[in-house]
Amino acid sequence: MNLEALKLALAASPDNIPLLLMVAKLHEDQFELLDARNCLDRVVQLQSDHPEALLGIARLIDMAGETSEAVVRLDALCAMKPDFAAAWLLRARIALDEKEAQAARAYYDKAVALDRSVADDELLAAILKAGGGKRSAMTANGPIEIDDDDDNDDDDPLFTGMDAVTARELDLEFRVKADIRFEDVGGMDKVKEDIRMKIIHPLKNPELFAAYGKKPGGGVLLYGPPGCGKTLLARATAGEINASFFSIGLHHVLDMYIGESEQKLHKIFELARKAAPSVLFFDEIDALAADRRDMRQSSGRGIINQFLDELDGSRSQNDGVLILGATNAPWHVDGAFMRPGRFDRLVFVPPPDGPAREEIARIHARGKPLVDFDPAQIAKKSEGFSGADLKAVFDLATEAALTEAMKKGALVPVGGKMLLNACKDVKPSTRKWFESAKNYALYANQSGFYDDVLIYLGLKK
Ligand SMILES: Nc1ncnc2c1ncn2[C@@H]1O[C@H](COP(=O)(O)OP(=O)(O)OP(=O)(O)O)[C@@H](O)[C@H]1O
Ligand SMILES: [Mg+2]
Repeated sequence: MNLEALKLALAASPDNIPLLLMVAKLHEDQFELLDARNCLDRVVQLQSDHPEALLGIARLIDMAGETSEAVVRLDALCAMKPDFAAAWLLRARIALDEKEAQAARAYYDKAVALDRSVADDELLAAILKAGGGKRSAMTANGPIEIDDDDDNDDDDPLFTGMDAVTARELDLEFRVKADIRFEDVGGMDKVKEDIRMKIIHPLKNPELFAAYGKKPGGGVLLYGPPGCGKTLLARATAGEINASFFSIGLHHVLDMYIGESEQKLHKIFELARKAAPSVLFFDEIDALAADRRDMRQSSGRGIINQFLDELDGSRSQNDGVLILGATNAPWHVDGAFMRPGRFDRLVFVPPPDGPAREEIARIHARGKPLVDFDPAQIAKKSEGFSGADLKAVFDLATEAALTEAMKKGALVPVGGKMLLNACKDVKPSTRKWFESAKNYALYANQSGFYDDVLIYLGLKK
């Protein structure tokens, strides 16, 4: 990301809050704390209660060593916006630095309860190591038990002997339930076609590909706004193929001991190679493959270098191992991952268009007691909605029906009206993503990676 280009953009549009925040972040990354502070102060001038800016200021103050002032400001921020997970997470970090492991754990749990996506397995590991509680904890991929005396011995038919032990030891969900298929994912025809070409056909017809001198391999990285079906589509891919599908989350890889994470990552790749043909799916890959320049800790760099090494198959062959990744922050993924042979296909998963929203509404409606259900009308009233937003519409309408049913003491079906009303209450969640994506696409679009975003926004043909 080019700071100079962003500064130029900022000169042209000095009150652009997303831009100010991005420039602040870049300054912070380079430890230009004063410059970062100036940008954030400007944001607060423009909008006095801007939570991200206030949080950023508290973090800068903490970095400058004024911990108690940082805590006071954080307290105020948490009081003003108690559901702001990132603020609680910073409190957890500061508490850990202050050697208050129990308090750190409480703040950490609070943050993750508010928003699972802030889960930070490295921080959690550090808190646990410092003595912050032993019970189960929440990671980015769901709850995990911390003290696992591993005695479940269910034998797995896919792997025998050593492999079964390794798979269990790594706690991999390699048999992702093939319970959903492409037909359960609405819209996305182009993305599905990309996955067919790059993953499904090569697995099904290896000879054909060989005849054209092509080896199946390389990787596909799905990116796009949250809630638009990236994870869902990956799961559906598992349902479309007859091959081992390994779903890897951060907690499978990160280990609290330096050097162990690299080993784990290596074991995961080895397992996939033995099981070939296989698909390795890395969800929320930005967390594992974060830009090395963003990292202050050298341990993170080790994982990335290992990851690159494994992708290149420099130690062993990756034939028949296909890699799928998903992220909603591709700009945080280290550029080295995008080189040929690695994630060489970047696939944009846009918000669903009208017909896709209609299809998604039909999918969400399956098996529900509905009357006057008009998917076309819902599609019309849900401009800018993600698939997850549409799911929220159904959840809200179902709640409304339940409330009425309880009042009446009789079953009330979910009505078309309830659904349309719910459309008014749900706010489209994809716009915010496009605000940042647009800046990256305009000012950091190396090799045209984000052209699809610009085309989607109508800024490029
Ligand atoms: N195309 C779709 N068809 C049907 N349901 C969808 C679709 N897109 C999203 N949904 C619904 O929204 C939920 C969230 O989608 P998913 O987790 O796949 O989003 P994501 O793109 O991975 O988001 P994130 O970037 O936040 O991880 C799904 O479980 C599903 O219920
Ligand atoms: Mg996801």
